Amino acid sequence: MNIAVLNENKAGESRVALMPESVQKLVAAKASVSIESGAGLGAARTDEDFANAGATVVNDRNALLAGADVVVAVSRPAKDDMRRMKKAAVVLAFLRPLDEPEKLLPALENGLTTFSMELVPRITRAQAMDALSSMATVAGYKAVLLGADRIPRMFPLLMTEAGTVPPARVLVLGAGVAGLQAIATARRLGAVVEAYDVRAAAGEQVRSLGAKFLEVDLGGIQTEDKGGYAVELSPEALKRGRDLIAEQAKSADVIITTAQVPGRKAPVLMDEDAVKGMKRGSVVIDLAGATGGNVTLSKADEIVERNGVTIMAPTNLPATVPVHASQLYSRNVTAFLNLLIKDGELNIDMNDDVVGPSCVTHQGQWVNQRVAAAMEAAKV
Ligand code: NAI
Repeated sequence: MNIAVLNENKAGESRVALMPESVQKLVAAKASVSIESGAGLGAARTDEDFANAGATVVNDRNALLAGADVVVAVSRPAKDDMRRMKKAAVVLAFLRPLDEPEKLLPALENGLTTFSMELVPRITRAQAMDALSSMATVAGYKAVLLGADRIPRMFPLLMTEAGTVPPARVLVLGAGVAGLQAIATARRLGAVVEAYDVRAAAGEQVRSLGAKFLEVDLGGIQTEDKGGYAVELSPEALKRGRDLIAEQAKSADVIITTAQVPGRKAPVLMDEDAVKGMKRGSVVIDLAGATGGNVTLSKADEIVERNGVTIMAPTNLPATVPVHASQLYSRNVTAFLNLLIKDGELNIDMNDDVVGPSCVTHQGQWVNQRVAAAMEAAKV
């Protein structure tokens, strides 16, 4: 069985789907691995590093695609790439199946078996494959560094002969994986941190990191589903959250927003007035930019200035930490591949409780019902 690793050609993408340490493990599991020349350079790994790990380095992308039983990538391969793969080849990547299902039509037409890292269920058995958490961890960390770099102040409390420097104040909105990592990073840098989330369970996690959890009376409504994810709130409940945030925003130096509701547009947590109420020199980092943003003023991958406040909405922070982001992703991908490989051969068990739910297309059919429904909705 031949696993192919593509050189990511999307602008700004520097990650690679497999790092040499993972190649070594796959080769030991009797798979053969081919990699497009230069694919690891963004993550500081050369063709030689991959060759030493047991991979075959290939210059011709089309030949690589044509010879692959399994193609692994970070982003969804382009439509022409999917057309050049063998019929029934397997693809594993972040495929964005719920937001852009129509982009997977070439995979459907070519009979490809596609697995989406976004759909890997968050059950205990699949934790080693949870690439969303891996990337959210990197993004939460890097967002704090961006904020710290941008504000005209320092983060820690300093007592000097020239007097006391007060600590920076950081407000984190949404305390899931990215938010909790942002809290931990900001605390390590010495900031005073407050956080808000609609899920009550987040309160304990926030406090355990040494931050203050902001409580809002949402009138006892249900805020999370059975899977532990936030649900879409009523306009009234959202407004109560926004009012509290606008008040807290006045004293913040850095605000990091990470709120998401799976399969929906990101909730708006800060409007223009809330930004206007902030101090000059303060910064908002909106990590929900790819799904519409938590801040009305934010523009994906642009820097907006308003009354001395900077609003940034970087959509691919993991790519700015390519070595560790690739390392984590590569381990997630390898753990998933291990479910598909038996004695060096492909062995796909759709009844497996991780493999089945992660599959988007198989033998010319939509397998995932949510994706099939999103596709129907896109046709209307
Ligand atoms: P996410 O990226 O979908 O959302 C980020 C955060 O935004 C969540 O904490 C959510 O509650 C919050 N949020 C949504 N709407 C909001 C609003 N209007 N105001 C304020 N906050 C709002 O979530 P993520 O980070 O992927 O994790 C969500 C849940 O999944 C958590 O309970 C987490 O512990 C759980 N999880 C479980 C895993 C496992 O069991 N293997 C792995 C990773 C996460």
